[in-house]
Amino acid sequence: MARATSRADALGESSRLSEAEIAVHWREEELYAPPAEFVAQANLTDPQVMERFSLAHFPECFREFGELLSWDRKWTTTFDSSRAPFYRWFVGGKLNACYNCLDRNLEQYRNKAALVFVGEPEEEPPVSITYQELFVRVNELAALLRDEVGLQAGDRVTVHLPMVPELPITMLACARLGVVHSVVFGGFSGESAGRRAADSGSRVLVSMDGYYRNGKFLDHRPAADLAVATAKSEGQTIDTVLLWQRHPGKYLSSAKLVEGRDRLVNDLLKKYRGRRVDPVSLPAEAPLFIMYTSGTTGRPKGCQHAVGGYLAYVTATAKWIQDIHPTDVYWCTADIGWITGHSYIVYGPLALAATSVLYEGVPTYPDAGRLWRIAERLGVNIFHTAPTAIRQLRRLGPDEPKKYDLRFKTMTTVGEPIEPEAWLWFYHTVGKGRAVVTDTWWQTETGGVLCSTKPGIDRMKPGSTGPPLPGIFPAIMDENGREVPAGSNRAGNLVIRNPWPGLMSTIWGDAERYKSTYFSKYNKRPNSKDWRDWPYFAGDGAMQAADGYYRVLGRVDDVINVAGHRLGTKEIESACLTVPEVAEAAVVPIADELKGRVPELYVTLRPGVTVSAEIERKVVHAVETEIGKIARPKAVHFVADMPKTRSGKIMRRVLAAISNTMEVGDVTTLANPDVVEAIRVQVQGKGKVATQAAPEDIAKFGERD
Ligand code: PRX
Repeated sequence: MARATSRADALGESSRLSEAEIAVHWREEELYAPPAEFVAQANLTDPQVMERFSLAHFPECFREFGELLSWDRKWTTTFDSSRAPFYRWFVGGKLNACYNCLDRNLEQYRNKAALVFVGEPEEEPPVSITYQELFVRVNELAALLRDEVGLQAGDRVTVHLPMVPELPITMLACARLGVVHSVVFGGFSGESAGRRAADSGSRVLVSMDGYYRNGKFLDHRPAADLAVATAKSEGQTIDTVLLWQRHPGKYLSSAKLVEGRDRLVNDLLKKYRGRRVDPVSLPAEAPLFIMYTSGTTGRPKGCQHAVGGYLAYVTATAKWIQDIHPTDVYWCTADIGWITGHSYIVYGPLALAATSVLYEGVPTYPDAGRLWRIAERLGVNIFHTAPTAIRQLRRLGPDEPKKYDLRFKTMTTVGEPIEPEAWLWFYHTVGKGRAVVTDTWWQTETGGVLCSTKPGIDRMKPGSTGPPLPGIFPAIMDENGREVPAGSNRAGNLVIRNPWPGLMSTIWGDAERYKSTYFSKYNKRPNSKDWRDWPYFAGDGAMQAADGYYRVLGRVDDVINVAGHRLGTKEIESACLTVPEVAEAAVVPIADELKGRVPELYVTLRPGVTVSAEIERKVVHAVETEIGKIARPKAVHFVADMPKTRSGKIMRRVLAAISNTMEVGDVTTLANPDVVEAIRVQVQGKGKVATQAAPEDIAKFGERD
């Protein structure tokens, strides 16, 4: 295979380049064309689409997105930048998100499954909830929220629920009333939920008695007490805790209900049987929800998304990129507590009248075949997951997908760069070479996908997210605001030059932070009302190949700077994964007197493989040959397991702390906190304790993981 940029060229040239421009040394991958059967049925096949959405047609091109929705009143102005970079889309228009996801689908799809819930215990049969049934339940809950709890449009509610149908039901009931939901990932601690409740000013918390995870019933109710106490300590009183029950009618938590504060939703609902609530017609720019996301510094930011722009954007992108038709069975394995779940489990698929699958548990419970059994049984034909899950499934059951009758037409990955090795396994073994794979790049802040191949039009390239979506104009810039030449394979900061309807409206309660985090870096005229003066700084490093495809290298703060050379963590990890014995790899920077920072590697091996000097040699060799001696790891630690978040991301922050003899910080929210001490002892020896003060870049490394 040809190399896009030879190492020698890149290294020789680097002294003349600014830091952001230093070339990244990826191998060019072969391209894969979408199968003809897929193209024949795809929603988007018009090759003119990029022209239709060219800059010359901005912003009116996005009318096409708005027109996918049902409006109570049509908008008068497609785009308003008079308060740039605080933009408004579809100004003058009025609509309701719940109406668009439910009511409008009833006439044609009343008895079609809107949601199929699969509980983790495998003996529980899947539960289908039709559009009619979902409509009834959402209305009853909306009546309860309004009449029992006194919530009205504009109020905020914090929702701390696991992956159960009650979560989308709660979101849609809020949306029906114009109440702003702030869903906190169920796996986060009560304290995290409490801090977010305080920030958003929620006086109501929606929680549950418990749920199944990894074969156990987890008592979730104590988290609600912690949330209330934490919110209180930050000055916010939560007066009502609405508790769902995992098994309606049975309260399975050991924690007692708090008199006057805790209400069992299923009991209260009896009073509201059969009630209907008119959807509240909201201005397009009214907030639909807040979703918190971590940045490099400070407390989490509440990304505020608008009803009109957000819903239009996720509906259009779900239609074009996931290729959703009402006849499809769509499954996204993300958690609804993250933006992916909001956009591509709930709002996008339901607005398109799809059947959306919800799975409660972990992908590998009770074994590596679980996801494939669910997909086979439900006839899932669109499968959306994360590279982490792909790596994990490949590691535990590389041949497992072959045992099942999987018939995916599209498969999507999201959330982190995917190594070509993992991509190829996904494409060949899971997709059986018949499915289109889209690698979608976007963020909590962006509402929906910004870069991806268009499945019915573009060829796929393993490890590259692909071109921008129609109407999105990215660029790569250096630290000084100069554009890195397009298609030059040089790394820099990924920016989006124009606004789009899915972009968040602001940060809840902190407009200044919105402006400074995302727009100040490349703005040269602070008083300008022209959107061209406000490029959006995504915080990701990326490069663009000559064919126009983008490759995202990871957060700018995850870049390891070795002797002035920027090395993407993914680049190093990808190199390790070319060694067949390696299952997972994570790289962290460690402080080095001579070079500033050098990488250190953590590696897990495939089942049945034992650690040996030979494998270590192969790993080091792979890094040296794929990237260069500059990336040679100081040490390779073969560990039994990686510290992971509940959503499965490797916590490089924790590994970086161990490598650098720093405090590991709070690890209680990890899926497997016990491995942390085991790794610490392995790396530092029994006696060592945290001694070092944290250099800023290392302390912050991987924080967003
Ligand atoms: O670094 C990028 C990475 O995930 C970050 C956004 O994280 P979050 O707001 O949690 O949203 C995740 C789901 C959209 C980005 O800044 N990221 C997301 N998708 C990709 C990705 N990195 C590489 N390739 C992707 N496809």
